[in-house]
Amino acid sequence: MNAPDQYGVVGHPISHSWSPFIHGLFAKQTDQHINYRLYDIAPENFRAQVLEFFTRGGRGLNVTVPHKESAAELANALTERADRAGAVNTLTLNPDHVLLGDNTDGHGLVTDLGKNLGLHITNSRLLILGAGGATRGVIEPLLSLGPTEIVIANRTPERAINLASLFSDLGAVRGCGFEDVGGEPFDIIINATAAGLTGSVPNVAGSVIASHTACYDMSYSKSATPFVTWAVEHGCARAHKGWGMLVEQAAESFTLWRGVRPDTGPVLAALGIK
Ligand code: ATR
Repeated sequence: MNAPDQYGVVGHPISHSWSPFIHGLFAKQTDQHINYRLYDIAPENFRAQVLEFFTRGGRGLNVTVPHKESAAELANALTERADRAGAVNTLTLNPDHVLLGDNTDGHGLVTDLGKNLGLHITNSRLLILGAGGATRGVIEPLLSLGPTEIVIANRTPERAINLASLFSDLGAVRGCGFEDVGGEPFDIIINATAAGLTGSVPNVAGSVIASHTACYDMSYSKSATPFVTWAVEHGCARAHKGWGMLVEQAAESFTLWRGVRPDTGPVLAALGIK
């Protein structure tokens, strides 16, 4: 048998990543002969080491914090969704030696919200907390589903305002500070801040949560995240962690790389989500 095709995920830190487990299950399920490894690469070495990976025959890399914007700069070409996001989470070396950057995060979030959790984005009011790379990747796919409004709230209000203005041609989206969100309840609240696992929760009025509100934390851990705990304390009946988004964005990357779409159901079950 030939040597397996080489894939991996690059981040800093990266040791906590579940991606090798997830891609390993996808490969087994679809009978693909691949190897998927963790690459802990500091920002100053990102460019050189990623180029070395591909020069040595590597086929594709997932990219995570803090490298998503550097990956967008490094790629020879970007898909439309990666270009709009200004961030890349999937690099693929095409047969013509073009290093293509894509962003599957938005697809992952929208698929988890809609298909796995049965939430409706269309005609809903959405609140997104945070205005960093995680938010950039998901605004376009969310707006494409026609929500009534997306409010992006951030600790540094200017960042949210600037980000919203980049997408205002696609639908109703506005940026503000946490204290300017208002007290009206939202249908869906998404936490996309990097505060995810550090214990702090954005300073937003609890009244944004009504009994019908669904809360979604892009962060994931086996125990409750601080955001999920905060949501439940304020009466949220549906608070979810980001495991499904993780698995769905991985499935989209795997499909780009291998041309075969894995079934995410068994992987969610293996992670104890379904
Ligand atoms: P990335 O681009 O990789 O997502 P980032 O640019 O550092 O990372 O953005 C992280 C997001 O989490 C930002 O919205 C950040 O708020 P600021 O723009 O004000 O920095 C937010 N964030 C990080 N730590 C936070 C905290 N303790 N409380 C609230 N928001 C926080």
